[in-house]
Amino acid sequence: MKSAKIMLISLLVLGLAVTFSFAAGDAAKGKAMFNDPKFAGGSKSCSACHPNGKGLEKAGEKKDFSIMGGTQKSLEEAVNACIVGANKGKALDVKSPQMQDMVAYIKSLKGAAGKKPASGY
Ligand code: HEC
Repeated sequence: MKSAKIMLISLLVLGLAVTFSFAAGDAAKGKAMFNDPKFAGGSKSCSACHPNGKGLEKAGEKKDFSIMGGTQKSLEEAVNACIVGANKGKALDVKSPQMQDMVAYIKSLKGAAGKKPASGY
């Protein structure tokens, strides 16, 4: 009986762990990385060129990018292009939690753009 209970609890914990590891990225963590010059081993922060994510408001929806003479087919590739080409850092694994947090942050910029008040237009 007791071992069945332990087994059940372990399964629950395992289930939760798996759920969390597959959860979408954390935009707040992504933002912190975006402002960190040391992110991905680089020497310049993303916000040095994209202050507060400026200019990236549409990136979350795009499928094709052309950064620094190259072509990128996903947001993850675009982020890596800037990490390597601009920040002088090391490309991240596309599936890494860091990449997912960064992507979540960039996607969160959608609509938050511009200096116009929310009721603009
Ligand atoms: C040295 C300046 C510089 C730095 C630092 C930089 N970028 Fe960029 N980034 C650019 C330029 C230039 C482009 C291409 C022109 C454009 O689309 O604005 C670009 C484009 C992008 C795009 C595609 C935008 C689009 O809609 O096509 C993304 C996403 C992006 N950068 C993310 C990042 C991230 C994440 C970081 C930090 C890891 C970063 N950038 C650091 C200069 C920089």
